[in-house]
Amino acid sequence: MIKAKPGQHAGLIKSREELDIMRDAGRKLARVREELAKAVGPGITTLDLDRQAREMIEDMGARPAFLGYRGYPATICASVNEEVVHGIPSAGRKLNEGDLISLDVGLIHEGFYSDTAITVAVGQVTPEIERLIGTTREALKAGIEAARAGNRLGDVSAAIQNQVESSGFSVVREYTGHGIGREMHEEPRIKNYGRPDSGLRLRAGMVLALEPMVNIGVWNTRVLDDEWTVVTADGKPSAHFEHTIAVTENGAEILTKV
Ligand code: MF3
Ligand code: CO
Ligand code: CO
Repeated sequence: MIKAKPGQHAGLIKSREELDIMRDAGRKLARVREELAKAVGPGITTLDLDRQAREMIEDMGARPAFLGYRGYPATICASVNEEVVHGIPSAGRKLNEGDLISLDVGLIHEGFYSDTAITVAVGQVTPEIERLIGTTREALKAGIEAARAGNRLGDVSAAIQNQVESSGFSVVREYTGHGIGREMHEEPRIKNYGRPDSGLRLRAGMVLALEPMVNIGVWNTRVLDDEWTVVTADGKPSAHFEHTIAVTENGAEILTKV
């Protein structure tokens, strides 16, 4: 008898039972994201948002995924204006009308991670910032639509990049999306730029966190002295959206939806 050869990247494929747990995790996390987005407004601090997130996650019987991750000190990442990702919540960071803020939050439910982010305007923002937020949301959507079994990772990357660059914005290159499951960051890395028909072939059962980070100006970034906060090199605004999705035989399923 010939021993069945495990498929390439077989370890990336989640079972039906695992997907059921990740679906529950995603649904919980999506509720947290939506509540946080609603709470955003002039006068609120990023620490207020962090506290609210932690309370909600713990009330749901889950655990904050970021707290303590490589020493990260908070439940959410709250990145304002030129901050791209990994902004640390602070009592000193009060939101002002005209700001934009990305809220990235993750939880662990029954041993499985879920990860999502949204960018929202604080009150009235400029038309350019509105367009940045809309483009980033659409770029994530384009990536999700390309994440079909049989397609390749490069198809996802290229779909995101096209959406962004055809709008005149730039895609951050130093940070990527990722596989997700029993760990927050699993293989593969998912670049937000790339060539169609290249890279890993997508198969049903893969769970991926897609997360375009989009800048108004240059794509380059740097990290502040706090060793976490990533900002744009030119100080111009940046936006970020993220969903945890499952690749199925009939297209992608968004797990982080309410
Ligand atoms: N949520 C981020 C991601 O999308 C990772 C945050 S790590 C932390 O991959 F330590 F900053 F929380
Ligand atoms: Co995230
Ligand atoms: Co992520």
